[in-house]
Amino acid sequence: MMKAFPEGFWWGVAEASYQIEGAYDEDGKGESIWDKFSKIPGKIQDGSTGDIACDHYHRYQEDIKIMKEIGVAAYRFSTAWPRIFPLGKGPVNQRGLDFYDRLVDGLLKAGIEPFITLYHWDLPQALQEEGGWAKRDTVSHFKEYVAEVSKKLGDRVHYWITHNEPWVTAFLGHYTGFMAPGIKDLSTAIQVSHHLLLSHGQAVQALRENGDKETKVGITLNLHPMHSASESKEDKEATKRYDGYLNRWFLDPIYKGCYPENMIAYYGEKAPRIQAQDMDLISVKTDFLGVNYYTRMVIKADAREPLGIRILTRLTHSQLKDSYEWLTEMNWEVYPEGLYEILRRLHSDYEAPTIYVTENGVALPDEVSKEGKVDDQRRIKFLRGHIIQAHRAIQEGVNLRGYFVWSLLDDFEWPWGLSKRFGLTYVDHTTQNRIIKASGHWYGRVIAKNGISQQTKDK
Ligand code: FCB
Repeated sequence: MMKAFPEGFWWGVAEASYQIEGAYDEDGKGESIWDKFSKIPGKIQDGSTGDIACDHYHRYQEDIKIMKEIGVAAYRFSTAWPRIFPLGKGPVNQRGLDFYDRLVDGLLKAGIEPFITLYHWDLPQALQEEGGWAKRDTVSHFKEYVAEVSKKLGDRVHYWITHNEPWVTAFLGHYTGFMAPGIKDLSTAIQVSHHLLLSHGQAVQALRENGDKETKVGITLNLHPMHSASESKEDKEATKRYDGYLNRWFLDPIYKGCYPENMIAYYGEKAPRIQAQDMDLISVKTDFLGVNYYTRMVIKADAREPLGIRILTRLTHSQLKDSYEWLTEMNWEVYPEGLYEILRRLHSDYEAPTIYVTENGVALPDEVSKEGKVDDQRRIKFLRGHIIQAHRAIQEGVNLRGYFVWSLLDDFEWPWGLSKRFGLTYVDHTTQNRIIKASGHWYGRVIAKNGISQQTKDK
């Protein structure tokens, strides 16, 4: 028996500019906040940087061939703002734009649909020096950049994602400081989140102005099902708060035109400064929602912790380790049902949008065998489990139209550097040699059948 997917379902793979391109200062590219951040000692766990990463800037043709060999229908990638505007604004760097022009043409020639993300975290450093996303002016600079990219590529690219995971940019970049630009201040992070949402609204307008009937615009959010650790009132309230902080802080403004009330009350004077019309702009109609799903969160109240919560799944590793299948290299719990839970919730609480799962995948300690193969059966099991849950959601009416595996290549995984392997393709970071893993070949068979067969082992 086959679990068949709807016709025209986009099976894809995803990547992001800083994580694969390398060529960090070539052809007129400006510095990004990640170029800067990754060189600060101690910020990247293995001391690596994205200077070379997967050298995709020079090897994109080989990478397109790999996608073709796997058989993917779509490729989600991001354009690097500092490649196109080295200073974030002012003169355009034509050579930077030309790279994406070549990439798009190469993809189309291979029969692969491009999905472009306009912001996957690499802000031009020059803008950061003027205040970055904490400053409202950055919103209009973003709009100009988006307009330029869409003028150049809009005749061939139909699918546009304004932001990737604005929660990460805002809160991991400006509250915990774990990511670039490494600021640690909650009220800055909250204001940044508002500017990011505003820039999303502005970008949607720019894309519509330069696009045509086929232009589809959306945003990608990282969403987690939130489970309360117990039935206690404290734990339930903490869970609601964390849901407000991470999920609803972005979903409610986009779909309902307002921030969650419990969070506005909780933030008090740290709540964002909002100008007239901001919320109308933020809730502008979009064509789809991108969902990145990796794991769930189990929440316990704890007054000593930031936001008064503790994420339990991160603290029960010793138990989870007994069953290694359920813990990834990122120490994230494997919980496929969570994808179903999130999709169902979006359908019932947020206007039943068209959805693409724009990222889903797993980091594992992959190794190359003597025969030069990578037999990553656990990744196959992981992907299979999640694809089955996606199918379940579709059966129940969720308008899911595509699924993208994170990632095509083993790449530069932000503060973890080159130490985590998410790819369907193994990359030797010394030689840049690439090997399609067993999961890549397996995924190709799923795509060819447009579905998944029900036996436990899908060969
Ligand atoms: C997501 C990011 C992506 C990658 C995966 C593992 O949060 O969007 O770039 O790092 O996690």
